[in-house]
Amino acid sequence: MRLILLGAPGAGKGTQATFIKEKFNIPQISTGDMLRAAVKAGTELGLAAKKVMDAGGLVSDDIIIGLVKDRLKEPDCANGYLFDGFPRTIPQADAMKEAGVAIDYVLEIDVPDEAIVERMSGRRVHPASGRTYHVKFNPPKVAGKDDLTGEELIQRDDDQEATVLKRLQVYHEQTELLVGYYNQWAESGQPGAPKYRKIAGVGPVES
Ligand code: AP5
Ligand code: ZN
Repeated sequence: MRLILLGAPGAGKGTQATFIKEKFNIPQISTGDMLRAAVKAGTELGLAAKKVMDAGGLVSDDIIIGLVKDRLKEPDCANGYLFDGFPRTIPQADAMKEAGVAIDYVLEIDVPDEAIVERMSGRRVHPASGRTYHVKFNPPKVAGKDDLTGEELIQRDDDQEATVLKRLQVYHEQTELLVGYYNQWAESGQPGAPKYRKIAGVGPVES
């Protein structure tokens, strides 16, 4: 199974990815998680990316496309993959199309902007695994601790309200174009075209 999860910041891509990757036994390729790992490791890429991420902008297409192409060469992608937060620009989507990276489904998770800020302000993350909680909507068993490891949960640096609003604006200006892009491709009936499904991202996580 080869999937793209498309949706605004805070729509629940990472949350749903946890279930989907287990069901299909495929790796989650989250460009956001990859960039945060580079920031933590203090690499040159990490230092450059941190500034952009903290400002709510997008890291350059060349860097992201290179990261993903390298990741797809790893053996665990042979059985499929789940893209989380990628592609998020037309050039990124075009690069995958040109490279012949197959996609079975594009799943758009739809959440109104009004719900996003509250989701982000309550989000808590286990940095090592990317497991995500919410203090109110999806609380860990023990406050502030990861359910599986018991390790500390943190807040993301880019979850402050001003940064969240900027990320939403960037989503509407650049990433939302992919809704039309993939819908058109899906409707074209061309061989290899993905199927497109829009899913309401409000309501309980399980549904
Ligand atoms: P990235 O990490 O991809 O962030 P994002 O797209 O902004 O999405 P989030 O991770 O914030 O949200 P999510 O949809 O995963 O929601 P979650 O499941 O956590 O990217 C970060 C940055 O990296 C970007 O801003 C950019 O700078 C850079 N970057 C990354 N990829 C890039 C690319 N391809 N090109 C260029 N730059 C790139 O859920 C959010 C909260 O809501 C959680 O607390 C969760 O518990 C809660 N929640 C989830 N579902 C529900 C529900 N149904 N009801 C109530 N609460 C819920
Ligand atoms: Zn995420």
